[in-house]
Amino acid sequence: LVPDLAEVQHTTTVEMLGVEAMDCRACSLWQPASRTVFGEGVPTARLMLVGEQPGDQEDLAGRPFVGPAGQVLDRALEEAELNRNSVYVTNAVKHFHFTWRNGRRLHQKPEPDSVQACRLWLEAEQRLVQPVLIVMMGVTAAQSLLRRPVTISRERSRIFPLAEGRQGLVTVHPSYLLRLPDEAEKAREYARFVEDLRRARDFIE
Ligand code: URA
Repeated sequence: LVPDLAEVQHTTTVEMLGVEAMDCRACSLWQPASRTVFGEGVPTARLMLVGEQPGDQEDLAGRPFVGPAGQVLDRALEEAELNRNSVYVTNAVKHFHFTWRNGRRLHQKPEPDSVQACRLWLEAEQRLVQPVLIVMMGVTAAQSLLRRPVTISRERSRIFPLAEGRQGLVTVHPSYLLRLPDEAEKAREYARFVEDLRRARDFIE
């Protein structure tokens, strides 16, 4: 049975955790996906960023946030004077959920079952990294960590208590910024995203 809960609870480094997660079959997503895309970054980072799930490019590369959403994230982190090399980046779900359309793999929102099954890894990552603040990017990350329904538009930019004395800041997902059709709105929303990351930076300093 993978994951072995007892084993995951006793894993002592986040690198070993990532190796264990490679064989995860806790939900059905492992089969169509190419590989597990685990979190990466500083193993003792003060700031953890959580997205939804790997996309097409992440699934191929085996690394989180390396596709278009990752480029938006990298630029915003830089503008907020945060470095991707000083944080830990992960996802609520570690396998790509997609459907085939016209020969392309199209992103599908993860099912609640997958979010629930994958929480084991996200909790173990928190236990080992011990971040001071977790930035929850988008509704899937926020709902997984806050364990309740979340409306991003109402709760963004706010800091909430999480389990075990941790704190979490709600913000938008960078893919949301990519999808906005209106350029002025896109610029405005992007600026707010950078503002949220600045708030996170101030919080951990
Ligand atoms: N979107 C996410 O939520 N995570 C990734 O790793 C890439 C895109």
